[in-house]
Amino acid sequence: MTAPTLPALRPLTLGPHQVWPPVVLAPMAGITNVGFRRLCREQGGGIYVCEMITTRALVERNPKTLRMIAFGADEQPRSLQLYGTDPEITAAAVRIVVERNLADHIDLNFGCPVPKVTRRGGGSALPWRRRLFARLVRAAVDAASPAGVPVTVKMRKGIDDDHLTYVEAGLAAQDAGVAAVALHGRTAAQRYSGTADWDAIATLKQALDVPVLGNGDIWEADDALRMVAHTGVDGVVIGRGCLGRPWLFADLEAAFTGRTERRLPNLGEVAATMRRHAELLVDQFVAGARNPARGERDGCTDFRKHVAWYLKGFPVGSELRRSLAMIDSLAQLDDLLGKLDPTVPFPVETLGQPRGRTNSPGKVALPDGWLASRDDDTPPDGAELDDSGG
Ligand SMILES: Cc1cc2nc3c(=O)[nH]c(=O)nc-3n(C[C@H](O)[C@H](O)[C@H](O)COP(=O)(O)O)c2cc1C
Repeated sequence: MTAPTLPALRPLTLGPHQVWPPVVLAPMAGITNVGFRRLCREQGGGIYVCEMITTRALVERNPKTLRMIAFGADEQPRSLQLYGTDPEITAAAVRIVVERNLADHIDLNFGCPVPKVTRRGGGSALPWRRRLFARLVRAAVDAASPAGVPVTVKMRKGIDDDHLTYVEAGLAAQDAGVAAVALHGRTAAQRYSGTADWDAIATLKQALDVPVLGNGDIWEADDALRMVAHTGVDGVVIGRGCLGRPWLFADLEAAFTGRTERRLPNLGEVAATMRRHAELLVDQFVAGARNPARGERDGCTDFRKHVAWYLKGFPVGSELRRSLAMIDSLAQLDDLLGKLDPTVPFPVETLGQPRGRTNSPGKVALPDGWLASRDDDTPPDGAELDDSGG
């Protein structure tokens, strides 16, 4: 394969922050907690976004939400994603973030395709109401800018192919003063099906002056270089590709630095990474728990969902897989990892393959009359979520 021709590779500028390599760990609810981010940060540079926090829960000082806003002492910049649908609540939430110095960067989520969210007009349904979208983004930027905290938006192409919003929304966000715009090249109707439309990402890059970040279907470091070459984006956002493969961030740093080596860990090295991941989750949950034993169990429970991703393609029996996905303690994990053959080589046939969610497309649930009311800027009823990370 011939190497893609690359535009000049520069650090990604997000307001006052210079990010090198220009790589963003995508916010993923239930995944990108402080432990997982640390595991990824140990591999390579970039900016690592925390799990989504809802503005309502933050304003109401929901204890679970406040616990979720946790960063490592060496995490720079601290990147927080907010979900909101009401400009006033969003502004209040951003004021809390800046007054309490909770983060150095705020991303706004307009990409969520979950029916519970779009049915109320939130997430990927919201940019359709263009005046509300512009008002909301401006409210966040105005509340963050006195503290010098850059705000970015992350969105999809639109509701479906007949209701695309990304160029108009990107321009509106730019007018509102955002530091960058990230585009996941799918519509809400596509959910996680099909392939991401990198041409749309190129179109947005052409349309905007602020940095544009491309997102969707980067499974390998070389996909990131291909996306940059294809679209001219200023940075890439990686979600599912790093599930069970945090070393992808080492490959990305190598790729953006012009180096050709890529990690192909054998099963022993994968087991060591699994151990490290579980240990970081246990540390995180112990730090947040009154009872340390409970913290260890909760950390191990949180780790369970990652087991299948780590072992994808490796010849490991179903019984051992099942037991690993039921661990309650690190001692149990050590015992089970000890049963793996450390010499088994990496299953190269899984390279470039989708992982994580790949569900089918579907009609987007929207509030009644939503499509006919583009210029209504009233916040949708009941669309603020009380619970973070959903
Ligand atoms: C489990 C999971 C949780 C996600 N949670 C969020 C979220 O909270 N906020 C958000 O903006 N996107 C969320 N996403 C979308 C990702 O950030 C990303 O846009 C999407 O996965 C496409 O990128 P990829 O092809 O690299 O995975 C989530 C995706 C997954 C798979």
